[in-house]
Amino acid sequence: MDPEPTGPSMPSSDAKWQDPHSGQHYATRRWSTARSALRDPLLVERILARHAVRRGLKPVLDAPCGTGRLRPMLERRGLRYVGIDISASMLGEAQRAGASGLVQGSVARLPFQDDSFDVVVCVRLLHHLHATEELALAVNELVRVSHRLVVASFWDAASLHAVRRSMGLRRAEGPRGRRAIQKRTLRALFDAAGAEVVGFHHSFRFVSQQAFVVAHKKAPVDARARNGAETRARFLDFGLDPAGGALGQAPI
Ligand SMILES: C[S@@+](CC[C@H](N)C(=O)[O-])C[C@H]1O[C@@H](n2cnc3c(N)ncnc32)[C@H](O)[C@@H]1O
Repeated sequence: MDPEPTGPSMPSSDAKWQDPHSGQHYATRRWSTARSALRDPLLVERILARHAVRRGLKPVLDAPCGTGRLRPMLERRGLRYVGIDISASMLGEAQRAGASGLVQGSVARLPFQDDSFDVVVCVRLLHHLHATEELALAVNELVRVSHRLVVASFWDAASLHAVRRSMGLRRAEGPRGRRAIQKRTLRALFDAAGAEVVGFHHSFRFVSQQAFVVAHKKAPVDARARNGAETRARFLDFGLDPAGGALGQAPI
């Protein structure tokens, strides 16, 4: 594993996972049944099949990889696996599934060159990011290191849970809690980062809190020409509020 990451951080997501027991907790108690733990990998597998992702020259990046839940499915499909996570504890658990291809680092600054991966998968991170700038930074990095496709999960602001929370009918998680994201916000962010959103996937539309966005990188050269400041400027052009209003609702 590489040494501790430096550079830009994402305060809303980083700190929470530094607990030395977070990996063990996630691997053993986070999911009530084996079936629930497998739901995300199966959904991602379906999305990859639909987008004809096959073994290629470039590997697949799992960012953040957590305890490596996606690894068996990706390797079963013949894809070369690289996983990155900020938490040493989560990576410690991930090593049980395979020690190769694991890197400690932040999605805020991925330690890879542009276009390094055929596909970049990001499961259960975006809803932990509170500031719109953090979200923009993460999307920009995911797109930058991808050559072709980004598949990312998010909490859908149009889901029943999110709507009920915004109406006060369901308990909010507080200011440090997870946040739902509007699809139009994601489209704008991916567009600003140089990728086109080509689809959204849900287990049960309007019911499942978590949904997946799939984006195709437009032209690697476009994305390379951009820097963070330009991305932010374009983002503001969409009239989205960098203080968090773009996420579309009160903290939920
Ligand atoms: C809910 S877990 C999801 C893990 C994995 N994707 C999965 O679905 O099993 C969130 C993960 O994000 C990692 N994380 C949080 N902030 C991060 C950051 N800035 N860069 C890299 N990993 C981060 C945490 O350490 C944790 O492993």
